[in-house]
Formats: sequence, structure tokens, C-alpha cells
Amino acid sequence: MSTSYHAAWSAPSNIAFIKYWGKYAGQIPANASLSMSLDACTTRTEVTAERMPFKDFPDINFTFEGEEKPDFLPKIEHFIRAILPEMPWLIECRLRISSSNTFPHSSGIASSASAFAALALCLTDIESQWNNSADKGRFFRTASHRARLGSGSAARSVFGGYTVWGKDKCVVGSNNGYAVPLDDPMDDDFARLSDHILLIDRGQKSVSSTAGHALMNNHPYAEARFQRASDNLHSMITAMRSGDQQRFFDLLEEEALGLHALMMSSQPNYILMRPNTLAAIERIRHARIVDHIPVGFTLDAGANVHVISLTEAKQTVDEFVKSELKSLCANDMYICDQMGTGPKSIT
Ligand code: PMV
Repeated sequence: MSTSYHAAWSAPSNIAFIKYWGKYAGQIPANASLSMSLDACTTRTEVTAERMPFKDFPDINFTFEGEEKPDFLPKIEHFIRAILPEMPWLIECRLRISSSNTFPHSSGIASSASAFAALALCLTDIESQWNNSADKGRFFRTASHRARLGSGSAARSVFGGYTVWGKDKCVVGSNNGYAVPLDDPMDDDFARLSDHILLIDRGQKSVSSTAGHALMNNHPYAEARFQRASDNLHSMITAMRSGDQQRFFDLLEEEALGLHALMMSSQPNYILMRPNTLAAIERIRHARIVDHIPVGFTLDAGANVHVISLTEAKQTVDEFVKSELKSLCANDMYICDQMGTGPKSIT
């Protein structure tokens, strides 16, 4: 009779304020990054592992939103191969993985962070059942360490709130192998931020983030960038602790534009922003500088714009987004989100 194990987790997407761009072998980030985990944008994953002795690679069946997705399998197999050395028991398994997102598919929102975080949490959970051991203290750290091997930013989606991944002297305990929650007490203004995600372009990215990271090898500005990221991390945490809104938004926007500047100056160079990305940026800056609304923007590796604001101004920002930014989105679509509390086990 075969034994089977089951786990189900939901994990949040996250948006980086200090960007991770460039890495070394073994999925080691070139600089430390800081992100906010989201609340509404999550991936929910369920895994059943059935013990099937005498195999040399786990049998994997994967469904996404109820449908088999063979084109997703190579990424999952690549991930399983990467974690096999620390989870050798997987070889004896038949894995059934089913997954779904709370945000619209092909919305241009990166789903690899929440997807690999949810999968790593499920597999780490099954491992504790398999070994009949529950080291609760290390559970999330171990899951983060593994999630990182699927997608670097996934390391941060294993925690809620603000999270740092990558070793930097300004964050005690920070580490290249796994993310850590940023426990520093923040000024009340930064206890929780809102994120309105403008879906400017719902197409596939023309350059994958794997290819983008690789272009940081031999990038003419690489060393200056890695130093700047470390300085910005330190300055941003200081601004969030002291409640310095202006400094926070300056750094947030510098990081977003800096990320895209790296793409635009790599060889080959490429542009992921669209005309409406720039139009949104101008309107957001006008709202902050002229209308004094506490709002700023950040960008991921794509055309979409994350409108970051202080929660106290949420209603004003809701109205601003509806009246000035919604029309810049593909099919008028945007998502209202905010800082979330992290992954949840689904029973
Ligand atoms: O996790 P990856 O390999 O998809 O890289 C993510 C890179 C950015 O989203 C652009 C920045 C970040 O830190 O999340």
C-alpha cells in the first residue's frame, strides 16, 4: 500500500522597493533587496506526494486553474532538480501539484514569486510529515531557502510585511541563502502601505528576468549599481523608521527607474516601459509634488506601475487612481492591494 502526504499553502506576491537585479552562481543575489508582501495577490498551491519506491526522478503532474499545463512543467522540473540534493526523498515520489492565482492570469504581474513560495512551503511541510519532525523555528527559513532556487524574489514571498533577501551589513541576520523579515519598528506612516497595480500591458515580457539578470554580468554599470543598492537599502530603512516620506518616495522611484536604466544600458539593451507607463509616472509625480498626495511609484521588470501610498491617504489615492490613472490601463484594469501578513496554511 502506498503512503501519501498532502499540504496546501497560499503565498503572496511581493513588490520590491530595493531591487534585486544581477546574481551569481547558486542563486546568490548581487545585492540585498527589500520588498513588501502583498495581501490580495496570492498563489494557492496544493501538493499530494505519493511514495513510489525505486524511481530516479519524481513523477510530476501539474495543473493550473484546473487545467493541465505541460508548458509550465520544465520550470517545475528545473526547480525540483535544484532542491533534490536537500530533499532526496522526493525521488521516491509521485507528485500531484495543483495551483491557482487570485490575480488574473497573463496580467503581466510576475507570478513566479508567489508560485515558487507556495510550492516550497508545501514541499517543506510534506518533508516534516515524511520525517515526522516539526522544527517550527526553521520552517519558514528552510522554505525561503528553497523557494529562492525557483525564483530569487520567491525567497521574500515566504514572509509577510517587509522582507530583506541578501546579505547587507545594515540588516542584522540578513543572508544570501534565505530572506528574513525586517523587524525594525517603522514609523506609523509605514506600518502598512497600499499598492494599486496598474495593468498597463497584459502581454508577455519580451525579455525574461533570467535573461535580464544574466545581462548584469559584464554590465558597464554593475559595480556602481550594487554599491548604490546597498546605500539605498540603508537610506530607505532609515527613512521608513523616521517617517521621512519625501526621502522614501525619492528612493522608491530612483530604484524603479534605476532598474529600467540598467535594462536600457545592457548589451543588448531593451525597453519594457510603454508610453502609458511614462504617462502614469508623470501623473503620480504631479499628484505628489503639486497636490501633496503621499503617493509614489515603483516598477517591476515590465510595463505595469505599482502606485505605492500611505494607508492614511487610501481614499484620496483610490479617487486619484480612478480619475487619472485607470484610463491608462489595458481594459481599464487595475488591482487594489496593500501590505499583507504572509503565507497561510490551508486546511
Ligand atoms: O525573482 P526573479 O528572478 O524573477 O527576479 C526578480 C527581479 C525583479 O522583480 C525585477 C526585482 C525584485 O527584486 O523583485
